[in-house]
This record gives sequence, C-alpha cells and structure tokens, in this order.
Amino acid sequence: MNDAVQVALVTGASRGIGRALAVGLARAGYDLALCDLASQPEALAETARQVQAEGRSARTYDVDVSSKADTQRLVERVLADAGRIDVLVNNAGILKLSSLEDLDEATWDAHQDVNTRGVLFMCQAVLPHMRGRKAGRIVNIASLAGRQGVPGQGHYAVSKAGVITLTRVLAQEVGSDGITVNAVCPGIILTEMGRNNLGSEEAVKHWENATALHRLGDPEDVVGPVVFFASPQSAFVTGQALNVCGGLYFH
Ligand SMILES: NC(=O)c1ccc[n+]([C@@H]2O[C@H](COP(=O)([O-])OP(=O)(O)OC[C@H]3O[C@@H](n4cnc5c(N)ncnc54)[C@H](O)[C@@H]3O)[C@@H](O)[C@H]2O)c1
Repeated sequence: MNDAVQVALVTGASRGIGRALAVGLARAGYDLALCDLASQPEALAETARQVQAEGRSARTYDVDVSSKADTQRLVERVLADAGRIDVLVNNAGILKLSSLEDLDEATWDAHQDVNTRGVLFMCQAVLPHMRGRKAGRIVNIASLAGRQGVPGQGHYAVSKAGVITLTRVLAQEVGSDGITVNAVCPGIILTEMGRNNLGSEEAVKHWENATALHRLGDPEDVVGPVVFFASPQSAFVTGQALNVCGGLYFH
C-alpha cells in the first residue's frame, strides 16, 4: 500500500452495508482493510475485488469482533501490512428477531457480544495507534432501533443504544488526541438483514409509506454519511449520531 494513501478498516465487509461502505471508501480514495467472520472468505474476496476495481488496494482478514483477542490480533496484522489505520468503521452486526418475553439468554448475550462489545473491542484495539498519531476517525454503525426501540428487536435495540452511548463517551475521552468518534443510525436498508427483518411485501409497503421519501434504503445510501465522518470535512463533528433513514424518525 502507498504510504500517502489513507487506510480504512471496515468490519463485516463481506456483504450488505459493509461491502457498500468498503467500495464507497475506495471511491473516496482510501485503501481498505476488510474483515469478516472466517466463514465468509469468498464474499469477502468479492468485496476486495470490487475495491480493487475502484483502483485501491484491499487486504482481507478473518475476525470475530466479539473476541477481544481476535480484534487485537486483527489490528496488529493490519498495522504490520499497511502501517496505518486512519479510519475504523464498526459495521459488523447481527439481528435475530424475538419478543423480549420469549428471548433466550444466548440470543441476548450474542447481540450484546457482537453489536456492542464488538464495537468496544475494535475501538480499544485501534486507539493506541490512533492516539500515537494524534489522528483518527471512528464511525460506528448503530441503528434507528437504538434510538426508538422496535418490537421484536428489544435485545438488538439495547445493543445499538449501547453503541450510541459508547460513541458519545468515547468521543469525549479521545478527542484531545485529535480522534473523532461518530455513529450513523440507518433506518431500514435492503440488505439480507433488512429483508429478513421486514418479512413480507406488505411490510415493505407499510415502511415505504412511513418514510418522508417514500422508499426504503439501499446500502449505497449509508455511504455518503460514513465518508463524511471519515473525512477532514467532519473535523469539528464528534460524539454525534446521524439518522440515515429517509425521514422515518426525527430525533
Ligand atoms: N439493514 C438494515 O436495515 C440495518 C438497519 C440499521 C442498522 N444496520 C446495521 O448495519 C450493519 C450492517 O448490517 P447489514 O444490513 O449489512 O447486515 P448483514 O447481515 O447483511 O451483514 C452483517 C455483516 O457482519 C458480519 N458479522 C456478523 N457477526 C460478526 C462477527 N462476530 N465478527 C465479524 N463480522 C461479523 C456478517 O458476516 C456480515 O458480513 C449492522 O451493524 C446492522 O446492525 C442495518
């Protein structure tokens, strides 16, 4: 990788929003370090090909973000290969629907482990490097569910509310070293997760009509806000959570 080119590390990059963010960041001029679960090598390699088609380099790594040891190893490997991490995008996440009444312990734990602890561990892994360079951008993919709470997604909503709070606190803890930490809160985005969540065509119509723009989101819709938070244009913006939802929620 060329020293002058900034490097963005994206978790959960093998599909959906993560893939779109990786390709969008490549288009914006970043080299990419892409990671996902070890079960996703082909899909991750396809994201790497799409990044390379934008003229940027891409390296791929296995990680389970819910393992602190894994996240530490990942960041060591990326730094050994690329020499720098300018931007961390915490995108990896899971959603399995259940009412709170019927929720089992394992599902609760899995959501907090991946969605919230995963973000914490990744931030802890990159911060020594970013603090050392007195620069860095962290962008966390939270969710509208984390603001509003959605029936059938209570455990997920709690995990994403945790991401928003973590974003606000971390921004205040690391800002003196020139590091910004922001979150985006997507509404309904048509990915594997988004489609599973919606279920029926009827539900798609209902939610389309509920948005000000009368449509649901594509992964591409999340790219602009994330590129903004990664860029020098957002230098004075930190600890914020931006809804990217087509006008579905206004707080
Ligand atoms: N799709 C939506 O409507 C929507 C809305 C709001 C927020 N989000 C959030 O956006 C992010 C991306 O969602 P998506 O819709 O692209 O989902 P997706 O299920 O299509 O992709 C999630 C990615 O994360 C990876 N992943 C899961 N667990 C992991 C782990 N432990 N370690 C590393 N990687 C892991 C998966 O392999 C997958 O590549 C998630 O954080 C999700 O919660 C999505």
